[in-house]
Formats: sequence, structure tokens, C-alpha cells
Amino acid sequence: MSTVLTATDLTRFYSISRGAFAKPGILKAVDGASFTLQRGKTLAVVGESGCGKSTLARMVTMIELPTSGSLNIAGEEIAGASASTLRALRPKVQIVFQNPYGSLNPRQKIGHALEEPLLVNTKLSQAERTEKARAMMTSVGLRPEHYDRYPHMFSGGQRQRIAIARALMLDPEVLVLDEPVSALDVSIQAQVLNLLADLQERHNLAYLFISHDLSVVRHIADEVMVMYLGRVVEQGPRDTVFANPQHPYTKALLSATPTPNPAAKRERIVLKGELPSPLNPPSGCTFHPRCPWMFEPCPRINPALLAHEGSLVACHAVNPPEEDVKAA
Ligand SMILES: Nc1ncnc2c1ncn2[C@@H]1O[C@H](COP(=O)(O)OP(=O)(O)OP(=O)(O)O)[C@@H](O)[C@H]1O
Ligand code: SF4
Ligand SMILES: [Mg+2]
Repeated sequence: MSTVLTATDLTRFYSISRGAFAKPGILKAVDGASFTLQRGKTLAVVGESGCGKSTLARMVTMIELPTSGSLNIAGEEIAGASASTLRALRPKVQIVFQNPYGSLNPRQKIGHALEEPLLVNTKLSQAERTEKARAMMTSVGLRPEHYDRYPHMFSGGQRQRIAIARALMLDPEVLVLDEPVSALDVSIQAQVLNLLADLQERHNLAYLFISHDLSVVRHIADEVMVMYLGRVVEQGPRDTVFANPQHPYTKALLSATPTPNPAAKRERIVLKGELPSPLNPPSGCTFHPRCPWMFEPCPRINPALLAHEGSLVACHAVNPPEEDVKAA
């Protein structure tokens, strides 16, 4: 395996104003995520809306710097890196968003949109840029005549192909995919996922794949990271997490997802209560007000992410806290 990116204890906190006379609040959008991205492999990040997935994506793509922690990309540390190092690293990590329409200029022909990253970042001639753009269009399943068309002339699936092509123009090593198929019809989703799998193999790309849809994740991930209110609650190989989920939150998410094998149907676990405000998260294990297993240490002690049966799990019921172990 070949590691292209290593994140260690990444955090991103936002200062939120609470009015003229109150101290600003601290919103912990990502509170300590550690992972590696490997060439040719996919790490999927799952969790409810607001758990910090896109914030993580923005840090990995260097759109935002972490509040703390280490991010090493292709052997270079991002924290404290010079502007020129960051500039040199940026092309290595590219991002595709859920809605490609927002990132495409409606008045720019698709061919020119694909050539733009080359114009800004390389010394290639116009003829070379055009040749590369046309080759990339073919490799994502677009036709030559699409070169002169504008974004509104394409379907949602085709626009996502254009966004993927644009992200690949600078030969990145990492592709961050933030809900790349969530806005597409199910039949089109499968086509775009197949294209992504094909491109990953051809270019040996590392993917950070963000999705709230576990059926999609089951299909494409090698590793899975489950987040809740900015924290990683479970992390492990795809087959281990899907076959043997440990954290009650992972169990609840999986129980709400259709399984490929109806005989193995899980009992649906419905979580009580609402998702708490990330500005005022519950104490200890932030999942405790909704947890069916909640017991004495949970509101007091934040569970560490510890190894258990092939995964990493942050739960006192799975890995009892040390004070309880000592008492036993
Ligand atoms: N620039 C910002 N300033 C303040 N708070 C922010 C900022 N960006 C994100 N947040 C907050 O950080 C938390 C995590 O947001 P994020 O967008 O990363 O979640 P997400 O998991 O991507 O959600 P979704 O599934 O809805 O896309 C949310 O509470 C959000 O309101
Ligand atoms: S630590 Fe406690 S509250 Fe948190 S998930 Fe485990 S059992 Fe539930
Ligand atoms: Mg998001």
C-alpha cells in the first residue's frame, strides 16, 4: 500500500458570535480525525448532516487550514508550510462537489472550463491544452462535440462527469468527492460510480468519498469512517464495519439502510431525540442523550477511539473506561 495523505488529530473550530455582549461560542466542526489515504483506495466518510464531513473535505483540499493537528500530503506537512509549498501541493488534491453547476461558469464553454486549470497552473500551449481537454472528455464518457457546449446544455449526470474531468486535468493524486452522486437519479448514480471506480483504477487515485448514503458507501469504500458531531465514532475496513458494526450510532445508521441480503435484515434502531446543536454539544460522549446503551460514565467521560475487533470504536460499552476496569 502506498500512502499519499496522512491526517493526524485534525481539528477545525469556528468562533461563532453570540451577540455584542456575550463571549463568542466555539463550534467544533471537526474534533480530532486521524486517517490515511492510500493510492487506488477509497476512504468513505459517513454521518448525519452537520457532523463535519464537508469541513474535513475543505481541510484535506487545503481550502481551509486546520485549527490544529497534522496534515501530510505527498511527504509535505501543511501546518506552517510556506505559500509556495501550498501552491505546489494544491493541484495534488482536487475536489468534486454535490452540485457541479455551482462550480461551472454558465457562460464558459465546457472545453474552456477544462483547459482553465492548465492555463493557470502549467506552461502548456493552447494546442496542448485543447488536446488534453479533449482526451479527458473522452475518458469521462463525453463526446467531442460537447467541447463547444455550455453547462446548461447538459444533464445532471453529464455535468458531474464534467466536474470530475475538470478535477482530473492537473493529474491529482487525491480526489475528494463530497456527496458526488447525491443529487443524481439512482440509475445515473450507478453510471457515475462506475466511472469513478474506473478512473480510480486507471489513475491509481486515492479517494476521500463523502456520503450520507450507506448503500453507496457499501459499494465503493475500502475503509469507512463514521462521524457524529465532529468526532469519529467508528473507523475500520468496509467489510468489518458493515458486517460487525460496534458503535450504537453505526448500528443505527446501518439498520436504516436496505441490505443486499434480505435474509440478513437488521432490526431497525430508531434513535431517540434530535441531533443536538454542535455549538452546545452534550458532555462526555456527545451521543449519550440519544444512545440506547447509555450508562453511568457516558455523560462524564468522552470515550477515546480504541481498537476493538478489527475496527476503532469510541464507546464505553465497547471499550470500558480505565477507571471502571481498575474498579473491576
Ligand atoms: N464557515 C463556517 N463557520 C461556522 N460554522 C461552520 C462553518 N462551516 C461549517 N460550520 C458548521 O460546522 C458543522 C459541520 O458542518 P459541515 O458542513 O462540515 O457538515 P456536513 O457533515 O458536511 O453536513 P451536510 O451533510 O449537511 O453537508 C456544522 O454545524 C456547520 O454549521
Ligand atoms: S459511550 Fe455510552 S453513550 Fe456513548 S455510544 Fe457508548 S454507550 Fe452510548
Ligand atoms: Mg457537507
